Amino acid sequence: MFQHKIEDQRRFLIVSNRLPVSIERRRKGLSYRPSVGGLATGLGIFHQLHNSAWVGWPGLVVEEEKEKGEIEEMLQSQFRSYPIFLSRHNIEGYYHGFTNKTIWPLFHYFPQFAKYEVSEWKAYLEVNRLFCKRVTEIARPDDIIWIHDYHLMLLPKLLRKSLPKATIGFFLHIPFPSLEVFRLLPWRKEILEGLLGADLIGFHTFDYARHFLSSLLRLYGLAHEMGQVTAENRLVQVDVFPMGIDVKRFQAEATSSLTEKAVLRFKRKTGNRKIILSVDRLDYTKGIPKRLEAFELFLERHPEWNQKVTLILVVVPSRTKVEPYRLLKRQVDELVGRINGRHSTAGWVPIWYLYRFLSFPTLVTYYRIADVGLITPLRDGMNLVAKEFVATRKEGKGVLILSEMAGASKELGEALIINPNNREETAEAIEEALTMPEDEQISRNRTMQRRLSRYGLSRWADDFISGLLEIKDRQKELETKKLSLSVRNRLIKLYQESSRCLFLLDYDGTLVPLVEQPRKAKPDPELLALLKGLATPPQNTVVLISGRDRETLQNWFKEPDIALVAEHGVWMRRENTHQWRIMDRLSQEWKDWIKPVLERSADRLPGSFVEEKEYSLVCHYRGADPELAVLRAKELMGTLTALTANTDLQVLQGSKVIEVKCASVNKGRAVMNWISGGDFDFILGMGDDWTDEDLFKVLPEGSYSVKVGLGTSNARYYLDSPNDVRQLLKDLLAKET
Ligand code: UDP
Ligand code: G6P
Repeated sequence: MFQHKIEDQRRFLIVSNRLPVSIERRRKGLSYRPSVGGLATGLGIFHQLHNSAWVGWPGLVVEEEKEKGEIEEMLQSQFRSYPIFLSRHNIEGYYHGFTNKTIWPLFHYFPQFAKYEVSEWKAYLEVNRLFCKRVTEIARPDDIIWIHDYHLMLLPKLLRKSLPKATIGFFLHIPFPSLEVFRLLPWRKEILEGLLGADLIGFHTFDYARHFLSSLLRLYGLAHEMGQVTAENRLVQVDVFPMGIDVKRFQAEATSSLTEKAVLRFKRKTGNRKIILSVDRLDYTKGIPKRLEAFELFLERHPEWNQKVTLILVVVPSRTKVEPYRLLKRQVDELVGRINGRHSTAGWVPIWYLYRFLSFPTLVTYYRIADVGLITPLRDGMNLVAKEFVATRKEGKGVLILSEMAGASKELGEALIINPNNREETAEAIEEALTMPEDEQISRNRTMQRRLSRYGLSRWADDFISGLLEIKDRQKELETKKLSLSVRNRLIKLYQESSRCLFLLDYDGTLVPLVEQPRKAKPDPELLALLKGLATPPQNTVVLISGRDRETLQNWFKEPDIALVAEHGVWMRRENTHQWRIMDRLSQEWKDWIKPVLERSADRLPGSFVEEKEYSLVCHYRGADPELAVLRAKELMGTLTALTANTDLQVLQGSKVIEVKCASVNKGRAVMNWISGGDFDFILGMGDDWTDEDLFKVLPEGSYSVKVGLGTSNARYYLDSPNDVRQLLKDLLAKET
């Protein structure tokens, strides 16, 4: 699918809130331990295997400069990591505040926990700026900067400003919520803008990408094509990359002799008892209380399993200073106590509760001894534990019960998929898992294992980086078409040396920005003066070629110094005359039967309207709901195409408009009136949309053609905006005087 392969000559600069190691202050001094969570464990392996450096927060407050220096040295030499030291105040507002009290709950569909504090938002902004400063210092021009997760969603834009040419990828490890939830965030626009500074934005699942694209369209007005959006004249790709795990590493550990011995020791304690395992950070998104309730229901409904099954509940401490996490800890403690109190018998405790972080070998031992993996988050971006449980199924035995709310459920369809809010369903799934025939277990696990091996951690990273380099190539390709300073100078020189100069200029989107109401795009005094200046030298001919009706153009450009073309070439007013001339004999009768069709469509699309010109009809929908507009436009295009088959009418879909006109009329044909008889030695044609392509196509060799905005075009060059067009014209005039 992708062309590029990871090249190790280029360095990866990984940027995330947490470094792969976190530092803790102990009595004996500082202790370095692996960071918890899927981001750190998954990417940590990537970091070990590649030419990379990692920028992030080491997880503690350091105030003394000497200590900072020591930590810095240790992290750089041992972990290729660059710490960002955050103050207590930063951490309070940014980490305990905005990221974990606003973004985390909202993005996991817990709006009731989300706080919207301006001071915490400011802290988030400030810390993103600190990251920007540090990354700017460290980054080398050739680095591939890879930013991770919800803590740093403003960083892509900030970095784009300080390093405009940088290659920047962003990956979100948590869900991107549906528009209706995302829109609750007061700073939603800033977050979207922040992310758009990246070249590639990656999500775990198609749903998250779809939600993001829909938010871009509806809250920001940016449409996409195959996941590609043009933001501030840069291409940004949005795509899906489900994060995988290093299957071989887990399999090797699961079958190592040390693990085998540990498993035997364990089995001696548990005997023939079946083991159900769950492993999570202590987070309300993980659905631990609901899971415990479902387990209790299972015990009640299936007394035959009493004393024959144990649930090992591994819970890793997390974000202990954030209120809902503290409450959750108490709730889980109480629930475990209550269930064990009610159901324990001499020699059997139904739940073994471990509140601690397990090292990799210990964790794998737990995976190995488990018969059932019970992973039931209420919402989870991916959930690597589910994948790790499947990867460690030696001989293929064991059953995974997985919540449909985890991103991983999209890839692990052979698991017993449950809705974590459905206690009955979860309880019955436990029973089904415990009684599933072995050959069925093996067949399900083997299928999942094959899938996990094919799309593992390195494939995930490879695909992301390849996608990033590809979009960068595409940008560079477009960049070469940008009207550079040297081309601009050549153009100016040719203009100065020429004795007959022709300017063919589109109006909307070229000389003035596009607006919702076409009548509001009236020329401003600066533009009028500019056009007058351009038309004054006797060697210059200025033609304004527009899709607008002749009355509007006539009202706006009263002085006859410039020539006008209206309705894409139906009417023409040559320079130095007030007379309009029709180009061809055209029929208007078709309007009687096409107009009701357009009007019916506009009635069903609030915010849209139909414009009637003398020889064309246009349906405008820039002011309509963007998603409904796409639907209605598709319907209308279908109807109009069928209706106009075998007629000389043409249906064109442009930027938020659908236009019906006589097929023989187009801007290319119109400008031939000047080009063919003119003997011009300098021609400059500029336009922004599909109707201008007809113009670009007929320009003689040696002419300069310029498209406004990025996109495939017949023009030789492009400029970013109407402002740049005006600047170019001003530069030409400046050389004049
Ligand atoms: N993990 C670990 N020790 C533990 C518990 C979990 O190393 O005691 C690792 C686990 O192997 C997994 C990660 O932590 O890679 C948890 O990632 P997941 O995506 O499941 O959840 P997250 O914590 O990121 O929400
Ligand atoms: C999730 C997030 C990570 C985060 C991890 C642990 O996996 O996606 O970005 O690092 O949880 O949370 P913590 O707050 O301890 O970094």
